[in-house]
Amino acid sequence: MCGIIGYTGKEEVKEILLDALESLEYRGYDSAGIAVSDQEAEEIQIFKCAGRVSDLKRVCADEEIHAKCGIGHTRWATHGGVSNVNAHPHQVGRVTVVHNGIIENYKELAAEYRLNGQLKSETDSEVAAAVLNALYNGNPRETIYQAVSRLQGTFALVILFEDFPGRIFSIRNVSPIVATQSEEGCMLASDVTALCRFTNRYFVVPEYCLLELSEDGIALSDMQGKAVEPEYMEVNWGLNSSDKGGYPFYMEKEIMEQPEAIQNTIQNRIVDGMPDFTEDGVPDSLFVNCERVCVVACGTAMHAGLIAQSLVKSILNMHMDVELASEYMYTDPVVDEKTLVIAISQSGETIDTLEALKYARKQGARSLAIINVKGSSIARASEYVLYTDAGPEMAVASTKAYTTQLALIYLIVAKMAQVRGVWKEKQVKEYIAELKRVPSAIEKVLERRKEIHLIAKNILEAKDLFMIGRGLDYSLLLEGSLKLKEVSYIHSEAYASGELKHGPIALITNHTPVVAVVTQTRIMQKEISNIKEVQSRGARVILFIKGELLQSLRQEIEIFTLPNLRDEFMVIPASVALQLMAYYVSSDKGFDVDKPRNLAKVVTVE
Ligand code: F6R
Repeated sequence: MCGIIGYTGKEEVKEILLDALESLEYRGYDSAGIAVSDQEAEEIQIFKCAGRVSDLKRVCADEEIHAKCGIGHTRWATHGGVSNVNAHPHQVGRVTVVHNGIIENYKELAAEYRLNGQLKSETDSEVAAAVLNALYNGNPRETIYQAVSRLQGTFALVILFEDFPGRIFSIRNVSPIVATQSEEGCMLASDVTALCRFTNRYFVVPEYCLLELSEDGIALSDMQGKAVEPEYMEVNWGLNSSDKGGYPFYMEKEIMEQPEAIQNTIQNRIVDGMPDFTEDGVPDSLFVNCERVCVVACGTAMHAGLIAQSLVKSILNMHMDVELASEYMYTDPVVDEKTLVIAISQSGETIDTLEALKYARKQGARSLAIINVKGSSIARASEYVLYTDAGPEMAVASTKAYTTQLALIYLIVAKMAQVRGVWKEKQVKEYIAELKRVPSAIEKVLERRKEIHLIAKNILEAKDLFMIGRGLDYSLLLEGSLKLKEVSYIHSEAYASGELKHGPIALITNHTPVVAVVTQTRIMQKEISNIKEVQSRGARVILFIKGELLQSLRQEIEIFTLPNLRDEFMVIPASVALQLMAYYVSSDKGFDVDKPRNLAKVVTVE
């Protein structure tokens, strides 16, 4: 959480910082600020405000800012409310800081260093700035190492010292910082999205290494002062792939990109019609030798895990746990060296997932991560990684990351069925051939998005809404419901439809829209009965149904027919339809679809 940017080089820094902050805004949008180091004036100027980067732009608009070095921050509030004074950067004496993470012992430090008279904000971050200032002896390296040895918690700190104009220092523990050097200058950021418009090469700053950016370039050193060689990697996202591409919101653009994203994710992993992870370096033995499989993930990524669980159970006849990563360590998980832990994460930075993975590995578990962002913390903490080739996902609500995670899950399940001898080659090939049809099935849903827009108009006024289905339909509805509630603020709950009569049906009235999804042939009749139960209690039902199952239904329900695929794969087109529905509800209500209230894209606090 929180977006950080730093630049020093040949160009005027103001626009660089403001543009980069805009591209990082999905990490937090409670307040924004920049600090620029103006060599001529020999002082550090700070501009900051509560609100969005667009508000900060207004604050900076009339200011004559001529500087070629600066840092910036966009905040997701943890300690201290949303206010101008709590916005970063924080300046104490000769030290100016932006921070991502949480300094857990900030109260103790404030007491120990008698900082209270100096602090203006309620933030833990300002305490870090004040500790650095208290310890400052004219030597940034010594000061920074001394200060961070006192900090408990997670941090990515980016620091300007007034007497080192044109230089930016940074150090981190857990919270990410990436950096790069291009013709224009040196940059650092909390994630690669902000660097993409300059270069596609970057490196992840190792924990507790000191990064120094100056006009001489980048210097990276360890705690002993020994130079460390940056390990550059390349991101294959186009330099403009984080633009909105003509769509009003990223969410719409990202929904529309799904056929291509899935195609990119699967194409190099299918060889002669069979799943193949050779290029990823993932050995077949990983899937043969495990006795237990467990997914750790949060939110949408956890919902992808639930689909994996159903497939593993039905195809491999194997038990699989899906654990909320935030609960994992605290619920005595059964995990040992025969366990394969699969961590799923778009950002690769979700701290709960990272900690759960580290915990499982400590118990001896083998590990595989399904990640979208190359080189991210979870990718580096896992033995093996499969990257979803979704490109940057900028909207806070996850769409293409989810469906590309599913695409990889289908491949993993097919690989497991193959190497564990559950399926013959022919069966694997038939299944993979169906997976290859998924992008065109999504296209068919996207082509008919106007129909979904009309459906969405009918639930704009809803206060509460239920989503019902069975089996895989229930699992995908958990995600559909999350999508709707986070972007439209409508209270939505997904229920296994057979469970309704055990309590929740008490909430059904003629003011409660019920979204039902029916794609699973073998339980279809039961799903239809459950739909009739809510209809007879007055509910208006909106039905998303696999086309070939339609004939046995009366037509008084609002129906969207989904393209036909094998039942296992219906999850993806059905999910895309629900994503569109959530999107249209939110945009028709006039909300900022990409930045729902209280949320942030990258969740680096526990
Ligand atoms: C919802 C959403 C979140 C994330 C969750 C995990 O649309 O995006 O629920 O899925 O915060 O994030 P990652 O996948 O980055 O670990």
